[in-house]
Amino acid sequence: MTAAIDMGTGATGDRSTLDLEELLATRLLVQGNSGSGKSHLLRRLLEQSAGWVQQVIIDPEGDFVTLADRYGHVVVEGERTEAELLGIAARVRQHRVSCVLSLEGLDVEDQMRMAGLFLNGLFDADRDYWYPVLVVVDEAQMFAPAASGEVTDEVRKLSLGAMTNLMCRGRKRGLAGVIATQRLAKLAKNVAAEASNFLMGRTFLDIDMARAADLLGLDRRQAEMFRDLPRGAFVALGPALTKRPVKVQIGVVETSARSSSPKLMPLPAAMDDAADLILTPDPAEFARPIARYIAPAPRPATDILAELARPRGEEPVAATEPRARRPEMSQEERDEQVTAALADIVDSASAFRTDAELYQDFLVRCRIRRLVGTPLSLSGFRQRLAVIRSGADDETMAGEAWGRVLALSDGVADDLKSVFLMLANAALSGQPCPGDAAIARSYGTHSVRRARRLLGYFEEQGLVVVHQDRLGQRIVAFPDLGCETLPGNPDAAEAAPRHAAE
Ligand SMILES: Nc1ncnc2c1ncn2[C@@H]1O[C@H](COP(=O)(O)OP(=O)(O)OP(=O)(O)O)[C@@H](O)[C@H]1O
Ligand SMILES: [Mg+2]
Repeated sequence: MTAAIDMGTGATGDRSTLDLEELLATRLLVQGNSGSGKSHLLRRLLEQSAGWVQQVIIDPEGDFVTLADRYGHVVVEGERTEAELLGIAARVRQHRVSCVLSLEGLDVEDQMRMAGLFLNGLFDADRDYWYPVLVVVDEAQMFAPAASGEVTDEVRKLSLGAMTNLMCRGRKRGLAGVIATQRLAKLAKNVAAEASNFLMGRTFLDIDMARAADLLGLDRRQAEMFRDLPRGAFVALGPALTKRPVKVQIGVVETSARSSSPKLMPLPAAMDDAADLILTPDPAEFARPIARYIAPAPRPATDILAELARPRGEEPVAATEPRARRPEMSQEERDEQVTAALADIVDSASAFRTDAELYQDFLVRCRIRRLVGTPLSLSGFRQRLAVIRSGADDETMAGEAWGRVLALSDGVADDLKSVFLMLANAALSGQPCPGDAAIARSYGTHSVRRARRLLGYFEEQGLVVVHQDRLGQRIVAFPDLGCETLPGNPDAAEAAPRHAAE
C-alpha cells in the first residue's frame, strides 16, 4: 500500500508528495527558525495522513489540541503521575488511538519528564501492539538538547534517552519519529542523524546552516539558499520525499493553531495627555485591591490534598481544636480507625487508581470515621498501602523477618514497594512465586512485560535472584533473607487479590 501525502506545491507548480509508508521506515527532521512555518508543516502532514496512520503528538505549547474536534485525536493533559502516563501510553498503542500529549503550562523540567515517560511507554508496548504510529515531536531541541541546560541530569537523561530510542530504535517497534526544531545546532546530534528525510526552512545562523548542509550532504554555498526561504517554504530531501533537494511551498491546513503570529494593529491617535494618563492613578483604581504578586509560601502536598478532600464551604478542622466536643480517641483507637479507613479503600478496583486519588479517598474515609487532622502523610500512606497490597498476614508481619523485609524495602522506590513486599511475603510464607499478571497488577499496570522487567530490575539491584525449576516454574530467592518462594507459573492467571486489611 502506498499513500502519497500531498504536502503542497513544488517549484514548477506540481504537487509535492510524501510517501507515507517510506516515511514510517525513514523518519523526518524539520528545521527552520521561529516563524518559518514548522508547526504549520507538521499540521499539514498530520491532517493529510490522519486517515492513514495512527498519530501521537508531543505538543509543548498545546497547539495541536485543535486536531481533536476534526480528526478525533484524544487530548492527554501531561500533568500526571508516572504510572498514569505509562498506562495511557500502553493503552494508546493497544487501542491504536491518535492522541496529543499537551504539555502546555508545565515548566520545562516537567515537560521533559512527562514527554520522556510517555515516549518510553509507547516504546515499551507489548510486541502484539507494535502497529505503525507517526510520533510527532515539535520543539524537539527541548526534549533532546545537545548540551546540558538548567534541568537536572536525571530529567535530561530520561528525555534524551526516550528521544534517542524513538529515533534510533523505534522503527522495529512501529514508531516513526517526525521531529521539528528551531535550532539544529541545539538538537542532540545522534537524534538528528537518524532521520533520512529533511524539510529545511528559513535558517539564519551560520552554525545551523552548517549542520543542515552536513546532514543533507550539500556544500556550504548551496546551503545559503535556506537563508532566503519565505515563510512556509522548505527544501525537501530524502527517500520519502525526493532524491534531489527541491523547494516545496507547504499547502493550506484545515484546523487552526491556537497561537498565531502577532498582527500589526493601528495605534490609538496621538494623545496630549499621555504622560498624565500613565502617571496619575484613575480614582476607580483605589477601589481595587492592590494587585501585587507575593509568592505564597509553599504548602505541603498533604495539606492541599486534605483541603481538596473537604466538602466545599466547610471550615478546616484544626488538629488541636476540634469544632465540636468529641470524646478523645486513644492512640490505639486511632490506629484501628486508620487501618479500617485503609481497608475501606483497598479493593480489587484500587490497583489501577493513582496513589493521589486513593489518598484523597482515604482522607475522606478518615473524616467519616471522626479522625481529626491528617492521620498519615502521603508517603506514610503509600508505605501502608504497599504493605496491604503485599498480602502479608498478621502472623508474617509480627515475625522478626518482616522487619528485615521492611528495612530492605527502604532502598526500593515508592512505586515499586508493593511488588517487592508481595514477592518477599510469598518467600517468607512459603507461597509460590506470583505470576506476571499478579506482579503487573501490584505495580498498577496491565503490561506483563513490564512485570518481567521489574523482576530484572530487582535482580540488577542485588535484591533478588530469579531462577527456574526443572519444569520452568519461576522461583524468586532473597539472599538477604535466606528464603525463596515456591516455584510458580509465570503465566498463571491472577488469583483474587488478598489483602491483610480485609
Ligand atoms: N505554508 C503556510 N501557509 C500559510 N501560512 C503559514 C504557512 N506556514 C506558516 N504559516 C503561518 O505563519 C505563522 C508561523 O508559522 P508556525 O507557527 O508554523 O511557525 P514555527 O516555525 O512553528 O515557529 P516557532 O518555532 O516559533 O513555533 C503561523 O501563523 C502560520 O499560520
Ligand atoms: Mg512552532
